[in-house]
Amino acid sequence: MAVCIAGTGSYLPERVLTNAELAKMVDTSDEWITTRTGIKERRIAAESEAASDMGAAAANNAINSAGLDAEQIDLIVTATATPDMPFPSTACIVQDLIGARNAFCFDLEAACAGFLYALETGRALIEQGSVQTALIIGTEKFSSITNWTDRNTCILFGDGAGAVVIKPSETGRGIISTCLRSDGSLGGLLTVPGGGSRRPASEQMLAEKSQFVRMDGREVFKHAVRLMSDVAKEALEKADLTLDDVDWIVPHQANMRIIRAIASRLGVPIEKFYVNLERVGNISAASVPVALDEAVARGAIKKGDIVVSTVLGAGFAWGASVLEW
Ligand code: UT7
Repeated sequence: MAVCIAGTGSYLPERVLTNAELAKMVDTSDEWITTRTGIKERRIAAESEAASDMGAAAANNAINSAGLDAEQIDLIVTATATPDMPFPSTACIVQDLIGARNAFCFDLEAACAGFLYALETGRALIEQGSVQTALIIGTEKFSSITNWTDRNTCILFGDGAGAVVIKPSETGRGIISTCLRSDGSLGGLLTVPGGGSRRPASEQMLAEKSQFVRMDGREVFKHAVRLMSDVAKEALEKADLTLDDVDWIVPHQANMRIIRAIASRLGVPIEKFYVNLERVGNISAASVPVALDEAVARGAIKKGDIVVSTVLGAGFAWGASVLEW
């Protein structure tokens, strides 16, 4: 039984943070950020806005676009590395905000790969009959874990949320294949070391700025290119399709140079990649659902298109999905 995406939605906070503004905060320049990453600006949530608020706004849009009511949602999976708080889950907070009172709800953490992990979890629960209709959300307030004095990382990330509603397909079109992978031995390359049970909040932890993202960018870059290309090929093989069949690749939006390197490794023209990172930066688990919603709204992705999404994030966790839209 195929499971399809019945609706998409997204939400971006109003505040735009440009490269020029960042150049006033740390020793960087618009030129460096643009040539090294492709990012020109990113959105930053208001102080009063948390992951759940953005997730709820994206969820409402996705539910409307699917032509459903919130009460028809049986399951909410929220992928986030920046939950409102350790508990209750951001998914439960979203449930309350949108009035999806018939859903059971939980969060899933696979960093920038979280959306595809959550999508596959929802798909499998629909396929095995546990639920009929699921809301899959990626929402991040990365500005809350960004060290605004670290030029290696603060130029990269943004805030926002994307969501999809999935349900059994009436046409046979939908998610064709998914491959998910993890390698915990690479965990140290991209981490928020503090604030959890290993290094709980303390004055010393805060003094060391351990509550913020730390990344070995160069190493992450190398792994990202190889792993995201290879897993996209694997997912296509599993779907019995080739790269020639693909209409769109919607990659995790981390760095334009990573996307170009994946295109050349796969031998796919760059025009087939849907890219919005110049406007939103890297929004981690929200990156792919925001890009999908935009691509559909702009008429880029159309009914019947073969779409491949490939992602990688901290963990390491990575994966790819192939869909017939
Ligand atoms: O979403 C999860 C996955 N995350 C990613 O995929 C991120 C992957 N990594 C990257 O995107 C890139 O590695 C970065 C954009 C983070 C960095 O680009 P890079 O080409 O790998 O630069 P680098 O780290 O090798 O640094 C090159 C130079 C260094 O100076 P020296 O040591 O050569 O003198 C850095 O100190 O650029 C310097 N630098 C900067 N200069 C101006 C680092 N950040 C900046 C900055 N502005 N913001």
